[in-house]
Amino acid sequence: MNVLLLGSGGREHALAWKLAASPLLTRLYASPGNPGIGGEAELVKLDVTDHAAVAAFCKDKAIGLVVVGPEGPLVAGIADDLRAQGIRVFGPSKAAARLEGSKGFTKDLCARYGIPTAAYGRFADIASARAYVEQTGAPIVIKADGLAAGKGVTVAMTLDEARAALDACFEGSFGAAGTEVVIEEFMTGEEASFFCLCDGTTALPFGTAQDHKRVGDGDTGPNTGGMGAYSPAPVMTQQMIERTMREIVEPTMRGMAELGAPFSGVLFAGLMITDRGPRLIEYNTRFGDPECQVLMMRLKDDLLVLLNAAADGQLAHSSVRWRDESALTVVMAARGYPGTPEKGSVIRGVDEAAVAGVQIFQAGTAINGGALVANGGRVLNITASGATVGEAQERAYTALDRIDWPDGFCRRDIGWQAVARERAHSGMKA
Ligand code: AMP
Ligand code: GLY
Repeated sequence: MNVLLLGSGGREHALAWKLAASPLLTRLYASPGNPGIGGEAELVKLDVTDHAAVAAFCKDKAIGLVVVGPEGPLVAGIADDLRAQGIRVFGPSKAAARLEGSKGFTKDLCARYGIPTAAYGRFADIASARAYVEQTGAPIVIKADGLAAGKGVTVAMTLDEARAALDACFEGSFGAAGTEVVIEEFMTGEEASFFCLCDGTTALPFGTAQDHKRVGDGDTGPNTGGMGAYSPAPVMTQQMIERTMREIVEPTMRGMAELGAPFSGVLFAGLMITDRGPRLIEYNTRFGDPECQVLMMRLKDDLLVLLNAAADGQLAHSSVRWRDESALTVVMAARGYPGTPEKGSVIRGVDEAAVAGVQIFQAGTAINGGALVANGGRVLNITASGATVGEAQERAYTALDRIDWPDGFCRRDIGWQAVARERAHSGMKA
């Protein structure tokens, strides 16, 4: 089978690496890809906003499955337009991608189906939004309704911060995404990412992870797309997974089907594990980046078989096996990230650093004059597996320290909570 993978980040490099290992694969194409993905796939230049052009390419190359990495094309309806041309797609329809594309849509679904989540209000004008904030008090969470590249959420610890966040939304800081806001109750607990493969009817649990969103060590500084992650998430015990399926994922699948928008693709639940159990923070309708990288390290089964089963509505007959190991990834970012990253600095030693048990996935990279250079914010994902999170962490940082890139930086403490937990546990046993 020929496959077309859309996207250009570390997530897509990890997907390309697993797809390339499938005996079912004939040719893998990727667009736009990056130099790392180019090692696994033939890179093609397609305008992903031109769905007719993507469909024409798929027909020309006899593409058997299109795998969509990022949310943008899904929310824009690429899956619908390709399916209308008879092309198989792994990814949700435009109507189903509203679970990520509109926070208000998801909150209303939760309310209707009794799915545990933060109490909320939806507002399209600043006066009523302000009144709600003044009445509720801080801490409180302000969210632009639409896609805002991960920047539309403010966890306001004071009323002044909340007022400023409302001003930013309604003054247009997030464009159309901020013309409506969701205002939420502040929840406390431990965060976890939970993934399911879905086929419209069945949701198959597909791993857990925890990521580190803040740019600095000790979870300080501004939010990013994620500076590192590890899998599995210790807080997601089998019992917690079952509870999340029953209370959150299954009612969501039922609700979406009843709304005429059955969900297929990856359902990524951002969860807050509170003392009252799992509560939904938000949905994404794609793999997490960098969570995908650690899931792919641990996946034992053939990814292409699973994605085909999801695209064909056959997940009820599928199961997933994982390596009995932990995986951890550390993001190396270009100086300036998450503000304006510096581009063009030369990166050396990537191939030499990728020893056994380590995979280096590329994100914002390019080739310039034969050299690998930085070409984005998050640039490399140094990913390792190990018997424990601690072992994976040690391997990842050992590999990372062999990379010669003076203009890159990383957090030095990815996985710290899990490693501390492991140490406490082995101390108890000793
Ligand atoms: P989101 O983009 O919705 O994932 O939000 C970004 C981050 O904001 C989350 O990972 C949480 O750390 C935090 N957050 C979002 N909503 C809430 C909430 N209702 N209570 C507490 N923290 C939240
Ligand atoms: N790492 C979080 C995300 O992909 O949304």
